[in-house]
Amino acid sequence: MIPILDLAAQYRELKSEIDAAIARVFESSQFVLGKETAAFEEEFAAYCGVRHALGVSSGTGALHLALLAAGIGPGDEVITVPFTFFAPTATIGYVGATPVYVDIDPRTFNMDVRRIEAAITERTRAILPVHLYGQPADMDPILDIARRHKLVVIEDVAQAHGAEYRGRRTGGIGDIGCFSFYPSKNLGAAGEGGMVTTNNSEYARKVRMLRSWGEESRYYPVMKGYNYRLQGIQAAILRVKLRKLEPWTEARRAHAAAYDRLLEDVDVICPGTMDDVRHVYCLYTIQADDRDGLQKRLEAAGIQTAVHYPLPIHLMPAYSDARYKLGDFPAAEACARSVLSIPVFEHLSAAQVEQVANEISQLVGKKHQETVSSRR
Ligand SMILES: Cc1ncc(COP(=O)(O)O)c(C=O)c1O
Repeated sequence: MIPILDLAAQYRELKSEIDAAIARVFESSQFVLGKETAAFEEEFAAYCGVRHALGVSSGTGALHLALLAAGIGPGDEVITVPFTFFAPTATIGYVGATPVYVDIDPRTFNMDVRRIEAAITERTRAILPVHLYGQPADMDPILDIARRHKLVVIEDVAQAHGAEYRGRRTGGIGDIGCFSFYPSKNLGAAGEGGMVTTNNSEYARKVRMLRSWGEESRYYPVMKGYNYRLQGIQAAILRVKLRKLEPWTEARRAHAAAYDRLLEDVDVICPGTMDDVRHVYCLYTIQADDRDGLQKRLEAAGIQTAVHYPLPIHLMPAYSDARYKLGDFPAAEACARSVLSIPVFEHLSAAQVEQVANEISQLVGKKHQETVSSRR
């Protein structure tokens, strides 16, 4: 069986360091925030090239606090995408604002920047791009539009730790970055965790208070806040794993490059990458005409895959909205029918990558010759 993810392999590689890190937290007994969190914040800020990093209890909490710190609230609109995990939409709702979707570019799965301006109204306050699957959104046009319309840019970096756009690290490109350390992410905790990154001292000050009950000092809340603090044990473990993030990311990128090569003539679409970006392949997501059939046959062959995501957000019962209907975002809707994530985790071997590619090749066959030549 080739799994989609092998978290136990991470633990086997780092067992002695992780066990020592956990013991350190017990010895200090600083279980909530504490010195491990402070040290991790400093190290993660340096990794992202930002001035401030604030540890929080999840990526969802990071998005929620970023929106609050940016002053977004009832009556405001936030431009985002309908094809991603639904946390951005959910948290825009938490602050009483309204998500306004623009379709994605089906080649990169990220926000189609040509469609942003048409979605701006006098209520628009922010743009919230998601760096989906580990590839940065096309940030320069987004920043340019934001500057011209005086909008805040909140990056959802949950899937893109260490990704780069034209030499800049994600999380420090827009005004605020929101990371998740959910176990399956490129940098994953042993439970929940998240981080807000920013170069703006005022946003950092607000997030610092909001994550801990709005307290300016203990028991002196100056704003209504939340219990969204990062735990010491998570920070201590994340510090150990952060030291592995670069080699692990390079392993993911090598697997992705191998898939690109091995699947080139196979009748699936490999993920498109923009020029001058560092894609970190949280997921390697192909598109296939008979996605469900391929998934079943791969499962039967012992290869685990996953669908990220089977339904665009505007069609989810929980987030349906009278403004949107089937057909409004054709690229998102088509991708939801065709996407399939195949194993790309860091501990996969080159032989396993070949086995996955061979199996796909046998199951779907070669591209038709005209398609191959027209793509070249
Ligand atoms: C794109 C995206 N945004 C936000 C989140 C929310 O992060 P968390 O699960 O840590 O709350 C996730 C992941 O789970 C995600 O994939």
